[in-house]
Amino acid sequence: MAKILLVTGSSGLIGSEVCVYFARELGYTVHGVDNNQRAVFFGAQGDTRWNQQRLQKELREFVHHELDIRDRAGVLALVRQLKPSAIVHTAAQPSHDRAAAIPFDDFDTNAVGTLNLLEAARQACPESPFVHMSTNKVYGDAPNTIPLAERETRWDYADKTYAHGIPETFTIDQSKHSLFGASKVAADVMVQEYGRYFNLPACCLRGGCLTGPNHSGVELHGFLSYLVKCNLEGREYKVFGYKGKQVRDNIHSLDVARFMAAFVNAPRAGEVYNLGGGKANSCSILEAFKITEKFTGKAQAYTYLGQNRIGDHICYYSDLRKMRAHYPRWDISISLEETIQQIVEAWRHRAPA
Ligand SMILES: NC(=O)c1ccc[n+]([C@@H]2O[C@H](COP(=O)([O-])OP(=O)(O)OC[C@H]3O[C@@H](n4cnc5c(N)ncnc54)[C@H](O)[C@@H]3O)[C@@H](O)[C@H]2O)c1
Repeated sequence: MAKILLVTGSSGLIGSEVCVYFARELGYTVHGVDNNQRAVFFGAQGDTRWNQQRLQKELREFVHHELDIRDRAGVLALVRQLKPSAIVHTAAQPSHDRAAAIPFDDFDTNAVGTLNLLEAARQACPESPFVHMSTNKVYGDAPNTIPLAERETRWDYADKTYAHGIPETFTIDQSKHSLFGASKVAADVMVQEYGRYFNLPACCLRGGCLTGPNHSGVELHGFLSYLVKCNLEGREYKVFGYKGKQVRDNIHSLDVARFMAAFVNAPRAGEVYNLGGGKANSCSILEAFKITEKFTGKAQAYTYLGQNRIGDHICYYSDLRKMRAHYPRWDISISLEETIQQIVEAWRHRAPA
């Protein structure tokens, strides 16, 4: 019987990568759900129709569904009809800055939309693995309480406990999350609960910076993609506080899709993983400028604003040891430099939005 994958947010960065990977490498028939809500959240610059059309052109066994995950009856009907062998849920309002302006849209999409999918899965295909894209923003700004050491171009953890990065046991409670972080906490805990309470084979992947050549980076979301775009267009990049030394760990969307495939192949119920690039793929904004300049040959113009973004992490990189222990055949396969090089090439060739 044909294996069917249902991907929500299929026109987005992660969703589209998952569609391609599961269709081409694993032989799935892929059904994508996306209503181009990203263009509503971010305007024309966030439009993902180009990516939807790319999937429809390049993948023979791809079916697009113009569906809003907030449409509970619509979601239930689709999941009942398809009875997918696996579900990968990546549709979201993904920006913490944007959430403050649209709290209901944010919560209805991130928290209620996730519940709609979980309940549909429980009713229609309770044995099928369910992968939920969560975020490291569930930790709120609690990582900022870790003592830091200031290096020449970046912050780093001074406390040896975090030498490998932030583990999944880190507190998600009693810190500032942004409304986006809070709606993602609600979804994250609900996914865990469907795993523990109903034994749904579901996991949460708490993403660091997920990126890659198919990201429609905008100022409010998708930092590397947007930074590279600014460099190529000679536009000023705004650095928000922390001396530009704030550290993010970056993972290529292909390595995200590879991990999801590993989980679908051997699922566990109610698990949580910190999915980022780890220390090896981490960089500060200043360091990202340098790597980008190497590939574009253009100096990065930027302005420095003293005020940091609310709830922004000063230093964050994921401890990847749990993922490696549970799925020893998975590891990061694309370096940070290679990722940035691919983003540079992609922006050079992509038609302007
Ligand atoms: N990109 C990152 O750096 C990052 C980091 C951590 C976590 N995440 C999480 O990973 C997931 C995917 O992120 P991404 O970067 O691919 O985001 P993205 O914005 O590129 O893609 C999300 C897609 O979902 C669609 N969508 C949004 N609301 C919808 C709705 N109500 N109904 C149907 N479709 C809808 C959008 O149109 C978009 O195409 C999100 O859950 C995000 O919170 C991303």
